[in-house]
Amino acid sequence: MRVIVTGGAGFIGSNLVDRLLAEGHRVVVVDNFDPFYAREFKESNLAAALAQPGFELREIDIRDAAAINALVSGFQPDAIVHLAARAGVRPSIIDPALYTAVNVQGTVHLLQAACTLEPRPRFVYASSSSVYGDRPDAPFRETDPVDHPVSPYAATKKACELLAHTFHHLHGLPITGLRFFTAFGPRNRPDLAIAKFARLIDRGEPVPMFGDGTTRRDYTYVGDIVDGVIRAIDRCTSYHLYNLGHSEPIELRAMIEGLGQALGRTPIIERYPEQPGDVRQTYADISRAAAELGYAPGTPFAEGLARYVDWLRSTGASPGKTSGDSGS
Ligand SMILES: NC(=O)c1ccc[n+]([C@@H]2O[C@H](COP(=O)([O-])OP(=O)(O)OC[C@H]3O[C@@H](n4cnc5c(N)ncnc54)[C@H](O)[C@@H]3O)[C@@H](O)[C@H]2O)c1
Repeated sequence: MRVIVTGGAGFIGSNLVDRLLAEGHRVVVVDNFDPFYAREFKESNLAAALAQPGFELREIDIRDAAAINALVSGFQPDAIVHLAARAGVRPSIIDPALYTAVNVQGTVHLLQAACTLEPRPRFVYASSSSVYGDRPDAPFRETDPVDHPVSPYAATKKACELLAHTFHHLHGLPITGLRFFTAFGPRNRPDLAIAKFARLIDRGEPVPMFGDGTTRRDYTYVGDIVDGVIRAIDRCTSYHLYNLGHSEPIELRAMIEGLGQALGRTPIIERYPEQPGDVRQTYADISRAAAELGYAPGTPFAEGLARYVDWLRSTGASPGKTSGDSGS
């Protein structure tokens, strides 16, 4: 299969690219090495892929519709996995126009380009648990109403879901949206809490804990998410939307303690008030993905953390700069 992966130099994208190449697919990555975090970090994510014959990297900004059209018509993909986005909840509050341009307009460019092909390629795109907003009832189901996003980032992801349905309806594009729940593991995005806290704990510095430590996230090992994406590509025939989470939320305090254990150090915790845009919990009901995709996330949190720490130690990688946990 010929697959375009947008955002393929990033955390989830590069893990996906390695799996696609291992399965013998031809892969073109579209990525502009957005400065949200270091270019070198993303280049090292792709180091193994770049050595493979079935791989090509195209440094394109998804806001450039002409470049996207030229690539799609030239490569004629069987599938497009659209992961490129400005991620992060808190930075989206500071620059909502940028988030809208990249996440919404960029997605429209990919959708339009896909609809120029006959037959239509399979289109799988990243949505987010953040579309569920700040809700007390859980677990979150795909059938729940999601019309109260609490950050510009979440609103852009919901907008993409609406556009996905429109392009399926108007142009017969087979399309699957995947609501990822906080991914973690090797190549972890450096702005996410796990990477930021790992660096601080490793240095013996205090970890900023926002709120009382009882907020919870449905941390999902990146290998399990990649497995779900592969299954979604294989079964992308019509219009679908799935939660890809672990369905076992972990409290913030327990996450910090688990990370300390994996790193072999005792975390020092410093408390701060809750942040605007944050939600109290994320918790996926994954029964639809289990029934229709055969999705079965099998990596326990502690094992995922151990693999993350192994990766940190083996690469000598820095978990990355700290700029506040920006959510997913
Ligand atoms: N990591 C998570 O926990 C999580 C949770 C929910 C949803 N998501 C979504 O999954 C997708 C992948 O997330 P990630 O954590 O791997 O993020 P990431 O930032 O590591 O990867 C995104 C990639 O997109 C690229 N990109 C950004 N703007 C671009 C542009 N204008 N043109 C081309 N490329 C551009 C970046 O350079 C980066 O390599 C995103 O759509 C994100 O919103 C992630």
